[in-house]
Amino acid sequence: MDISFNNDNARKIISTPEISSLQENIDHLHTALEEKTGVGSDYLGWMHLPSQTPSSLLDSICSTQDEMREQCDAFVCVGIGGSYLGARAAISFLSSANNKEYAPEIYFAGNTMCSDYHAELLQTLEDKEVCINLISKSGTTLESAIAFRLLRIFMKKKYGEEGARRRIIVTTGPQKNIMNDLAKEEGYRSFYIPEDVGGRFSVLTSAGLFPIAMAGVNIRELMDGALMAERELSRSSDLSFNSAYLYAAYRYLLFQKGKTIELMAAFHSSFDYVLEWWKQLAGESEGKGGKGIFPSTAHYTTDLHSLGQRVQEGTRNLFETFLLVKKSLKVIEIERSDSDIDGLGYLEGKSLDFINDKAYKGSAAAHHEGGVPNLALILKERSAHNLGQLFYFFERAVAMTGYLSGVNPFNQPGVESYKNNMFNLLNKPSHTKGRQIK
Ligand code: PA5
Repeated sequence: MDISFNNDNARKIISTPEISSLQENIDHLHTALEEKTGVGSDYLGWMHLPSQTPSSLLDSICSTQDEMREQCDAFVCVGIGGSYLGARAAISFLSSANNKEYAPEIYFAGNTMCSDYHAELLQTLEDKEVCINLISKSGTTLESAIAFRLLRIFMKKKYGEEGARRRIIVTTGPQKNIMNDLAKEEGYRSFYIPEDVGGRFSVLTSAGLFPIAMAGVNIRELMDGALMAERELSRSSDLSFNSAYLYAAYRYLLFQKGKTIELMAAFHSSFDYVLEWWKQLAGESEGKGGKGIFPSTAHYTTDLHSLGQRVQEGTRNLFETFLLVKKSLKVIEIERSDSDIDGLGYLEGKSLDFINDKAYKGSAAAHHEGGVPNLALILKERSAHNLGQLFYFFERAVAMTGYLSGVNPFNQPGVESYKNNMFNLLNKPSHTKGRQIK
């Protein structure tokens, strides 16, 4: 794989025998995953998406996006949580690497209930040729449903019934649900998210692949990368070979030693939404039953100037994982200047990648010294192929950490509590009999 794992700055707190002591359990849990005998086994469809997604589905996604791209210069992706973050992560990670020649501008909606955001979006779309993709597996998520209603009405006013129909695609669960019914009633084209793939594990289904393709990313390359990871990480659970499980083992042991917060920090801004995607994957999968690492994210070096003090000297309850890429797509060097008035003469001829790498190494050493163990995951390059590997790597690692901790990583019973309260407060018909919150 093109992802390397570095544990140099965690060896002081986690010894090799401690890691090895988990091997037997990891072997057993790996078998439970592969043979679908563990908890949550109805939601393991993500494990073999790279190898089992039919080529005909990728063809259909590619031909639909070709057709859509001809009609629009603005594409709105409507969804939240797992039905949004994977696409956004890939689109922002690969933005300048994409084939942008014909790609529309990509907008997101339904990931917030902010009135101003949606008002401004609708205004921006006025002068554009627009296509829309609603993504909601359940078909009932309030944020996406509201945004979709706003946008559907906008589209019908702008293009009429028939014009809107050609420009709207619905991606939902295969079972009967509100959005499935609506799509049939209105005649919208549909893609399906397999029943056995949960939202946060769905980036490699149509939920992620269609919007990613719309942004000009080569989705076959993304899937090929994920396939490489699937093959490597399902072949063996040996910790000297399976880096996703080794990362999971460190996470599990660090948590046991009171490092209850994982700060995933990136030094390259293209990772901004990959961090958000990971945060949901880890938080929703592992945080239950009174357990779970609290996943948090940092954008370095900017956050070294805000969180840096807390990391270096605050409560010693965190560890860091650095998410890095070996090289940027574009090289910028510090140019020679006639005078050294800005004091940067010592950096002349050095690239920003070189300087950023020293910032990483300096922070990793200082934080380690200060009692914050850190790990690093390093991608070879900023490509769809590497990102496909990374998506799959994190899915495997989080599934294994959940199993090690004794939780079901594939459900999310806790998110229903706030929804029940909110729907009660909104007098949603099916909820009005529940507990009343004032
Ligand atoms: O991971 C999850 O299951 C959630 O984050 C969902 O993806 C999110 O709540 C959106 O759900 P839906 O796709 O049903 O609209």
